[in-house]
Amino acid sequence: METHHKLIFGNSMSMIEIPDESIHLIITSPPYFNAPFDYRGLFNNYQQYLGVLNNMARESYRVLQQGRIFALNIDDMLVNGEKYPITADAIKIFQNAGFRYRDKIVWKKPDGYLRISKRSGVLLQNPYPMYFYPDNLLESIVIFQKGKFNYQSMPKEIREKSKIDKKEFQNNNWHKTIWEITNVLPGSKFEKGIAAFPDELPYRLIKLYSYVGETVLDPFVGSGTTMKVANLLNRNSVGIEIIRNLEAVIRQKINYNNLEILERDKGRYRFVTLDYIEKRKNINNPL
Ligand SMILES: C[S@@+](CC[C@H](N)C(=O)[O-])C[C@H]1O[C@@H](n2cnc3c(N)ncnc32)[C@H](O)[C@@H]1O
Repeated sequence: METHHKLIFGNSMSMIEIPDESIHLIITSPPYFNAPFDYRGLFNNYQQYLGVLNNMARESYRVLQQGRIFALNIDDMLVNGEKYPITADAIKIFQNAGFRYRDKIVWKKPDGYLRISKRSGVLLQNPYPMYFYPDNLLESIVIFQKGKFNYQSMPKEIREKSKIDKKEFQNNNWHKTIWEITNVLPGSKFEKGIAAFPDELPYRLIKLYSYVGETVLDPFVGSGTTMKVANLLNRNSVGIEIIRNLEAVIRQKINYNNLEILERDKGRYRFVTLDYIEKRKNINNPL
């Protein structure tokens, strides 16, 4: 089945190229607020970060079709010993943008997950009370919905083509609020410095929340994982990314010809702090 894929270089606080109600599913993972490994000192303050989420949520609501889902992979972030309640704040932001908060799935990484420093080591060095700092193996996938989905609107043929394999659903434990999925490993070639999510994450979400031939949007597309999986599953895709030089990475990952590139004219970068581009321009490019 021929599908179409569009990559927009710009800031997803505006989605000016995307018509109202033209998207069937949104999956994304925003940059982690000043995460020590990937985004240290990126945002001037927490309010600026929430402002990005707020504008992106409002634009997402506009472009999403009635009844459809936004799956947000996000989590609270520990910066300099202070935990920021990003998940709770994001839920409020999405509700204020008009979405219904529908579900929360917890993504659990394997126990041997080594990307983050082992905070629990502090206790091993000082085996006394008050030295306990747990290792975090979890992230959230928050599911929002825009109004109600009309199940009758879907032609029978499309429904059948999009049928979910019940064995895969049950055997791989998709039915629980905990999804155990191996994260992208630190040495991985395409995702260096990008904090990519594994293919399995958009794979489940695309199968569970969209039909064949529909269009999936990722407003923080990074290395292009969502677009890659959308293509594999016979869905169209739109990706938005602010860092222009990620095109080479995305092309390697996606590796297909039917990819349209749109670059926003510089005037539309008005929301971007120049800081942002400056700080990210040396992103580790493996190519
Ligand atoms: C956590 S990464 C997403 C990784 C992606 N899920 C993947 O699998 O590769 C977040 C991405 O959002 C981009 N980004 C940050 N702010 C943005 C903005 N305002 N508009 C568009 N992209 C942005 C970053 O450059 C980064 O590539």
